[in-house]
Amino acid sequence: MTQGGVVMGYGTVARLLHWIMALLILAMIPAGLTMVQEDLPRPVQDALFIFHKNTGSLLLVLVIVRIIWRAFHPAPPLPDHMPVAMRVAARTTHYGLYLAVLTMAVSGYSRVRLGGFPIEYLDAMGVPPLLSKSEPAADVAKAIHATVKYALISLIALHVAAASYHGLVRRDGVFGRMWPPVAPRQAAGSGSQR
Ligand code: HEM
Ligand code: HEM
Repeated sequence: MTQGGVVMGYGTVARLLHWIMALLILAMIPAGLTMVQEDLPRPVQDALFIFHKNTGSLLLVLVIVRIIWRAFHPAPPLPDHMPVAMRVAARTTHYGLYLAVLTMAVSGYSRVRLGGFPIEYLDAMGVPPLLSKSEPAADVAKAIHATVKYALISLIALHVAAASYHGLVRRDGVFGRMWPPVAPRQAAGSGSQR
């Protein structure tokens, strides 16, 4: 839907959460894939693990905050000219992304805590582990983490391709619903800013 010819966009909180999380996730995936390689020098592997576990725990908090925020601030309506199939594809991909990020963050956290391993920054802040050690449960969480990564990577590839198509080929204002990371003032006056 448009108001006065302006495509309605997301508000600043949704935009900031989106872009901060996108940057962190795009760093987490290569870090995760690299740190499990066997021939890696130990100091590099340790640094990657520390980065991955601690940034991942931050992402766990951010994805929960984002889902709660989203529950109270529905997405602004899509432009009228967008075909139904495209709307359905966008909505399905977005829900899939939320689910995949949440599953990755929960399974990663669980895998580490159930395995009895530290999460350095949380431990330094005195945050309790929340889960007690259990090797069989840790193995289940590990398998979930290793499997769901394929779904997350595929969804991100699809999502970035769709965003580029809207931004570069169709130029239909959909990319500007999320970019820039702070909602422009002009749109704030004329469109939904959720
Ligand atoms: C959105 C958040 C996350 C993403 C996208 C992510 C991504 C990944 C990826 C792609 C791998 C490589 C897996 C493989 O090739 O088998 C991995 C491994 C791993 N991740 Fe994450 N991760 C996330 C959150 C977390 C969190 C919160 C923790 C712990 C606090 C964590 C701990 C680990 C560990 C320990 C491994 C090594 C494999 C294992 O022993 O299970 N991850 N992660
Ligand atoms: C890498 C991790 C990323 C994740 C997990 C992610 C996730 C999401 C989610 C869940 C939404 C829906 C927001 C909502 O309705 O609540 C969204 C919207 C959007 N994302 Fe991403 N995103 C990522 C990266 C990117 C990148 C790299 C781009 C640009 C190239 C991008 C462009 C957009 C745009 C333009 C929208 C708004 C779509 C619309 O108006 O319907 N995203 N993203």
